[in-house]
Amino acid sequence: MNASTQPHDLPPITSTRRGFIKWLLGTSVVATVAGVFVPVIGYLWPPARKGRGYSGPTMVAALADIPVGTGTVVPVDDKPVIIVNTAAGGVKAFSAICTHLGCVVDWNKGKNVIQSPCHDGRFNPVTGDVVSGPPPRALPAYELSVKDGKIYVGKPLGQIYGA
Ligand code: FES
Repeated sequence: MNASTQPHDLPPITSTRRGFIKWLLGTSVVATVAGVFVPVIGYLWPPARKGRGYSGPTMVAALADIPVGTGTVVPVDDKPVIIVNTAAGGVKAFSAICTHLGCVVDWNKGKNVIQSPCHDGRFNPVTGDVVSGPPPRALPAYELSVKDGKIYVGKPLGQIYGA
């Protein structure tokens, strides 16, 4: 290679390499800071969940599937609802979210009560009132109707735990 083939007016290669390394370090710092703060911001200000909203009564079961002395938990508008059928009160629907700390309650067939599995909170299946345990208030009831042998659940009639 002779001197006539080497251009003298090009910028030195070290200048380009230094600039590239600065750019690389700068983007690494920005990516690291964003990687730390974006999840923190997402945790502190979560995006609002868009619920489907109330769309009318939901058919949850056939009446024949919930004979007297039984109960079952069904989903209604993304929330658990317990349907119970008792000799004293007939068919009722309550929020299945315990008013103590939010565990999902279930039917205790042996004791004929709605029971929370977490701290043994118990609720009256006719009124939803607290029978025993730490829950501070009754389970809120839901609108309920029976048509053509089918059970329909509508809106909650009280404040649902956590809602
Ligand atoms: S969450 Fe139900 S009794 Fe504690």
